[in-house]
Amino acid sequence: MKFLAGFVIAFFANVCCAAPSTYKVGVGIADVTGPAAEINTMGYASPTPLTSGIHTRLYSRAFVIDDTISRVVFVSVDVCMIDQSVKTEVVKRLQGTYGGMYSAQNVVLSGTHTHSGPGGHLQYVLLIITSKGWVQQSFDALVAGIVRSVDEAHNENAMRDAHIYYATDILVDANINRSPSSYLNNPAWERAKYTYNTDKDMVQLKFVSVADGEPIGVINWYAVHLTSMNKTNQYISSDNKGYAGLLFETKINGPDIMPGKGPFVAAFASTNLGDVSPNTMGAKCLDTGLPCDFVSSSCNNRTQLCIAFGPGKDMVDSTRIIGDKQFQKAWEMYSKDNSELEPLEGPVQFAHQFVNMPNYTVEVQDPVNGPTTVKLCSPALGYAFAAGCVDGAGAFDFTQGTTSGNDFWNLVATALVEPSEEVQKCHAPKPVLLSTGEITWPYAWHPSIVETQLFRIGQLLIAAVPGEFTTMAGRRLREALNAEAVNSGGPSNTKTVIAGLSNVYTHYVTTYEEYQMQRYEAGSVIYGPHTLSAHLDQYKKLTRSIFKNEAVEAGPVPPFLLDNQISLVSGVVFDRPAFEHEFGDCLVQPYPFVRPNETVTATFVAGHPRNNLMQEDTFMTVEAKQSDNSWKVIRTDAHFDTFFYWEKTSAVGQSEAHLRWIVPADTPEGEYRISHFGYYKNIDAKVFPYSGTTQSFEVAAGAA
Ligand SMILES: *[C@@H]1O[C@H](CO)[C@@H](O)[C@H](O)[C@H]1NC(C)=O
Ligand SMILES: *[C@@H]1O[C@H](CO)[C@@H](O)[C@H](O)[C@H]1NC(C)=O
Ligand SMILES: *[C@@H]1O[C@H](CO)[C@@H](O)[C@H](O)[C@H]1NC(C)=O
Ligand SMILES: *[C@@H]1O[C@H](CO)[C@@H](O)[C@H](O)[C@H]1NC(C)=O
Repeated sequence: MKFLAGFVIAFFANVCCAAPSTYKVGVGIADVTGPAAEINTMGYASPTPLTSGIHTRLYSRAFVIDDTISRVVFVSVDVCMIDQSVKTEVVKRLQGTYGGMYSAQNVVLSGTHTHSGPGGHLQYVLLIITSKGWVQQSFDALVAGIVRSVDEAHNENAMRDAHIYYATDILVDANINRSPSSYLNNPAWERAKYTYNTDKDMVQLKFVSVADGEPIGVINWYAVHLTSMNKTNQYISSDNKGYAGLLFETKINGPDIMPGKGPFVAAFASTNLGDVSPNTMGAKCLDTGLPCDFVSSSCNNRTQLCIAFGPGKDMVDSTRIIGDKQFQKAWEMYSKDNSELEPLEGPVQFAHQFVNMPNYTVEVQDPVNGPTTVKLCSPALGYAFAAGCVDGAGAFDFTQGTTSGNDFWNLVATALVEPSEEVQKCHAPKPVLLSTGEITWPYAWHPSIVETQLFRIGQLLIAAVPGEFTTMAGRRLREALNAEAVNSGGPSNTKTVIAGLSNVYTHYVTTYEEYQMQRYEAGSVIYGPHTLSAHLDQYKKLTRSIFKNEAVEAGPVPPFLLDNQISLVSGVVFDRPAFEHEFGDCLVQPYPFVRPNETVTATFVAGHPRNNLMQEDTFMTVEAKQSDNSWKVIRTDAHFDTFFYWEKTSAVGQSEAHLRWIVPADTPEGEYRISHFGYYKNIDAKVFPYSGTTQSFEVAAGAA
């Protein structure tokens, strides 16, 4: 009977779903961590904080997928957003190695949207004001790491015959809408189609080796901002999605494999997270504890006082909780038998076009005049952009005129122009604060030419979009592409997933109705009220091109502005050890005896972390003594329970490294030690490695 039941299920499984297609798949992971000291973090549009160490390292996770005729590369990068200069340079380097196999057309780079990575890697002026201009080291770190991850995935030994399984499920309590009053401006009939005001759907691809059933990797999409670490955080961090990835990779690769080193790769990628916050306790007024004003998210007319908080006791705890929730759900989906999942079946295809956005014309339905052709606008930001949002109130010193503490702003602010009447009219009802499209000095402030890109893997479409779509904007895009695919002869079960923050950054994309509310997201739609309509039109065109096998024109070439960049970030001059000390000397030893759940700390004489980024390496280790008296590394600076904090201790080149390890509850009893590694720069600007190790300390079993 049991045998028969199994047979019946297997029989039905076969009938319901034809055999999954076999793809060639390679995965790779590489370290993209940039300068861990004195560089403005990217995301909160604020000149503070500056990086001062590492909580978790940043990684690039690459997936090469090939059906033997066509190949696509999807890369999820722990970075706030991908810039055009990064995409262009990565493709150029890949072509240098592999020739025409890779191009802008078949490589998608998608940022996870962490707000805790070093900035200055974006070629347009507006995006690097707070970082005091261009930061070459941030750019180099990203490009080198992304290319390494693709090299690893491309490696023929790594590429295997694989089946790809699609799964979807609901995760309710890990995100909230941070602009619910905007969402409510969408039509009632449209809102009625959905239970929630954010997408609670998690989508996951599972890659499994055909030969031996071995897991190869997963790509997971769930809409949430990476703002669990708030705008006071000084540590480099991959935030909640980065933590989810580490948990998943450790689960498969095992705890002995250090982060970023294992064969199994789990990418938690960004999607339509525009109005979606991880700070699930919601916004309240800091002074009174009362709810903020619903429409303006302010308290007593002050935006700075209205802040959303996460579910945890502090921001690290919130990162842990939101990351863990995503991992747990992902793991549940992953653990299902493959026969319960939907295999991807069908070819690999891609479509791509560069588009001059301000020139885009599209037909929209005007409530008064019926079908009307409209043109998008020259880029501009509204006042609501400067206000920021509940995940981080704006501290942009635009309103302070031309004298601020930021010398790059002081330099470029002289180029500001009054928005022309045409721009004001085009963007209405948005009041224009910065008419970035009308400023050309010292070079372009915002992109006009953007990348639009679509992948097809069987019945799945991956729409790589150049910015942050809100919940409803994303729903409209997915629905439009699913329908367009079917209308163009595609599979009836076509489904679309949105890959956010891809290729080039154009801020937000809201619905036309949300735009009328002019909250932060709408104030940051840079091509005007019809930006979403243009995207819907454009991505439908890419969809048709895939299913009708009709090529689209390449479109205009985007500028590559590296030669124009201005950098005002000063370099490392030299390092000096503390009086009567050497680099690597341990100034504060750990307490010789700790229990699980307690924190071990140690302080070392340090060099400047920008002397060497230690990519694929570490500024710290924790080691456990083995029975043969050797030491085994059990932690690096990439682990979630270690913290590397760098502190300048004098104006003349002295600094210290403060290392922390929160001893996990399941740590075996025994002897442990902590080491610090780095490089110092001498008076002649030569750079040398140093290291230091603490005395050993005892981890004892049990609670206090
Ligand atoms: C907030 O500002 C608005 C518009 O400037 C004004 O009408 C209102 O009275 C202010 N509210 C408070 C509480 O100050
Ligand atoms: C950031 O989180 C910390 C707790 O980790 C909290 O004390 C602080 O108020 C938060 N700041 C903002 C601006 O959200
Ligand atoms: C944009 O449109 C204007 C006017 O139609 C035209 O002169 C210009 O060449 C176009 N630019 C691009 C890059 O297509
Ligand atoms: C460590 O903390 C966890 C979670 O708070 C707790 O469940 C556990 O009992 C603690 N273990 C020890 C040894 O104190």
